[in-house]
Amino acid sequence: MNVRAIAAKVLNQVVEKGQSLSQALPAIQQELSPKDKALVQMLCYGVLRTLPRLDFFCRSLMKKPLTGKQRDLHFLILVGIYQLLYTRIPSHAAVGETVNGAKALKKPALKGMINGVLRSFLREQESLIAQADQQPALLYCHPSWLVKRLQSAYGEEKAAEIMTENNQQAPMWLRVNSRFHDREQYLALLTEQDKQAQITAFNDNALCLENACDVYQLPGFAEGWVSVQDGAAQLAAHYLDAQPGDLVLDACSAPGGKTVHTLELQPELKQMVAVDFDEKRLVRVNENLQRLNLQATVIHGDAAKPDDWWSGEQFDRILCDAPCSATGVIRRHPDIRWLRRDSDISELVTLQKNILYALWQKLKPGGVLLYATCSILPDENDQQIKDFLAATSDASLMPLAAHYDGQAVTRQILPNEEKMDGFYYAKLQKAL
Ligand SMILES: C[S@@+](CC[C@H](N)C(=O)[O-])C[C@H]1O[C@@H](n2cnc3c(N)ncnc32)[C@H](O)[C@@H]1O
Repeated sequence: MNVRAIAAKVLNQVVEKGQSLSQALPAIQQELSPKDKALVQMLCYGVLRTLPRLDFFCRSLMKKPLTGKQRDLHFLILVGIYQLLYTRIPSHAAVGETVNGAKALKKPALKGMINGVLRSFLREQESLIAQADQQPALLYCHPSWLVKRLQSAYGEEKAAEIMTENNQQAPMWLRVNSRFHDREQYLALLTEQDKQAQITAFNDNALCLENACDVYQLPGFAEGWVSVQDGAAQLAAHYLDAQPGDLVLDACSAPGGKTVHTLELQPELKQMVAVDFDEKRLVRVNENLQRLNLQATVIHGDAAKPDDWWSGEQFDRILCDAPCSATGVIRRHPDIRWLRRDSDISELVTLQKNILYALWQKLKPGGVLLYATCSILPDENDQQIKDFLAATSDASLMPLAAHYDGQAVTRQILPNEEKMDGFYYAKLQKAL
């Protein structure tokens, strides 16, 4: 097993075949030792965070790009350059192991070529880096369409900050199950194990770990004392604020993080209905419910066509955690920016709109709908809500929570704001 060759294969699957990293990586990691698993992960995440820059270096150093059956070697070279530029792996080891990767990929005859490209990079890196830094898409390692969208939404300076944050590693956040402990009690359990974590304001169950760890090293994970969920995503259940006796719908629920959090916070619901379009992802909802010993009615259905699965009783609260560009979680999923296309955004905006209008019909008069996305693009967020409010006479914006002092505001969280993912929330009420 050559770890560099394995990373090259995964990258080829993601970049050339459009498979997501979260599908491609676990499939190949199964047979690896924990140390190799961590190295493959570091190389794949790292290359995807810096892809256009590495591509540019590779292109500049080769007469002809590697195509067809040799394409995996292109990614092997990127893995090599990444190690030389961004890791502490000594250059002789990085070059040697990467060159051996060509043999593992059954192209031993091209070992010399790989060696040559990596050695040329070591000689010419200074001038190549200076050239890359002239171009925003290479400097920030985002596709040009996304650079443009972020600059037009936030201005050049803020967009640069956002893109820099997108290239950082995301921290591991925990959600403490309030049925067992409050977060101060759980923090004490972590401290006993020498694990450090921070708390943030207005997010009662959230802890941000200083160093990520395996979930089974967390006190009481199997017993449901704690779950892994970003701090921004944890705000959903607090903002939804379900009340005893409520009939609640989580319309785009998989893998179920917000469904179970809502149930943890409010054990006296009339019923929780968890819907999702993706049957495979619904398995994860059931697993989460089982681990946490919670109950919900799980339905495979289309949120834009509720008449296909609706029981006929209007909901008191609806969470619409809509399918979106996921541009707020690029630091967790560095492949997103390469898998998405500019044209996806308008398609997503239409899908979100269809879901929002369809769900609104199933909300009780006086009921509350919380609209959420993990996007940072205004078209999917504030613009979507503005258009909805303009077209829907019985809808009005509500304050998200008590600490907003009665202000009916939406909230756009940007990546790494209070260490959280990028997220958007708007709380809508239906007139009586
Ligand atoms: C942002 S994720 C939801 C995350 C989830 N709420 C959580 O906290 O774990 C969006 C979900 O919407 C689902 N989805 C996409 N289109 C849908 C549709 N038309 N109807 C229902 N679910 C849909 C996707 O399968 C995906 O699971």
